[in-house]
Amino acid sequence: MKHLIDPMDLTKEETDQIVSLAEDIIADREKYQDIMAHRKLATLFYEPSTRTRLSFTSAMMELGGNVLGFSDAKNTSVSKGETVQDTVRVVGCFVDVIAMRHHIEGAQLYASEVSKVPIINAGDGSHSHPTQTLTDLLTIKRELGHIDNITIGFCGDLRFGRTVHSLIKALSRYKGIKVILIAPDELRLPDYIKQDVCDKCGIDYREVKTIEEVMPELDILYMTRVQKERFLDEEEFDRVKDSFVLDKARMSLAREKMAVLHPLPRVNEILPEVDDDPRAAYFRQVENGKFVRMALITKLLEWKDDPQHGMPENQKPVPDPSRRCANPKCICNAEHAPRLFRRTDSGELRCWYCDSKNIKE
Ligand code: NCD
Repeated sequence: MKHLIDPMDLTKEETDQIVSLAEDIIADREKYQDIMAHRKLATLFYEPSTRTRLSFTSAMMELGGNVLGFSDAKNTSVSKGETVQDTVRVVGCFVDVIAMRHHIEGAQLYASEVSKVPIINAGDGSHSHPTQTLTDLLTIKRELGHIDNITIGFCGDLRFGRTVHSLIKALSRYKGIKVILIAPDELRLPDYIKQDVCDKCGIDYREVKTIEEVMPELDILYMTRVQKERFLDEEEFDRVKDSFVLDKARMSLAREKMAVLHPLPRVNEILPEVDDDPRAAYFRQVENGKFVRMALITKLLEWKDDPQHGMPENQKPVPDPSRRCANPKCICNAEHAPRLFRRTDSGELRCWYCDSKNIKE
């Protein structure tokens, strides 16, 4: 059975099939309006959301299906201490597919181990956000006409921004991708992504400190919010919160054909004066999110019993009870998930659930 926990759970072909189906849905919405009749989606959101949860809801409704779930786990048995695995065991008795957002990294991967229905990761801590990635790929394709051979600048909180981590992973499979990382030292991209994704796949990347110096090169500028809720130190957040602001003056340095993306919500990083610029694609991106989720739900249910579309087999977890993941936000430390690791090509260990390099004996 296919779950979508990490963007790499889909092959490049499957990713392209979902993006193409979304384009087909956009071209002929009527054709798809009943294909999920009598099917149900659960949205289990342990963390705040506007776009992601409502776009899943609206996607399933537009396909003729039904939706149930919660947007505040405090009102559920979670407050009595129920584990994520038990919650999905229970909810899987009621629905055909589950979309889950959780503040704990690796929670969906752990839950998927016992789930009898496909689990879709709608964001786990600062780790991954694969459905935003599908949204971003569709948006890049619709704005530029292609995904290969682009220069993309990621700007803002590259440390905690899960949308950035997942999109870089997915882009590593396209041709001719140049990545420019625009962030202050405190918000730089985690090393595990640089080593395990960029270096491994030979992505051409460089790190810079200002938007201005790279703006004329960009096909895509991917702006992000500084993720206040992920900082352990409030003073550190205050120091970096307004690091970058996109305004009309900076937009004037950009190419005529380029697009500004942002997963939203924005705070101060894009001024409203930019919204009328035809290159500001972030509200079109929101709508693409609904279409791509319609395509994803359709494909996951189509692939559910097809052995050709299982989970990737290339990695097996390495159990090691003598070590532990030291990431306090990992499911291993929240719910006693087993101590599983994966080995990188260079022989280093990473946590199986959250990819952390911080492994203690
Ligand atoms: C993002 C998220 O939740 O990671 N939002 C979204 O899903 N569209 C980005 C953010 O919260 O800044």
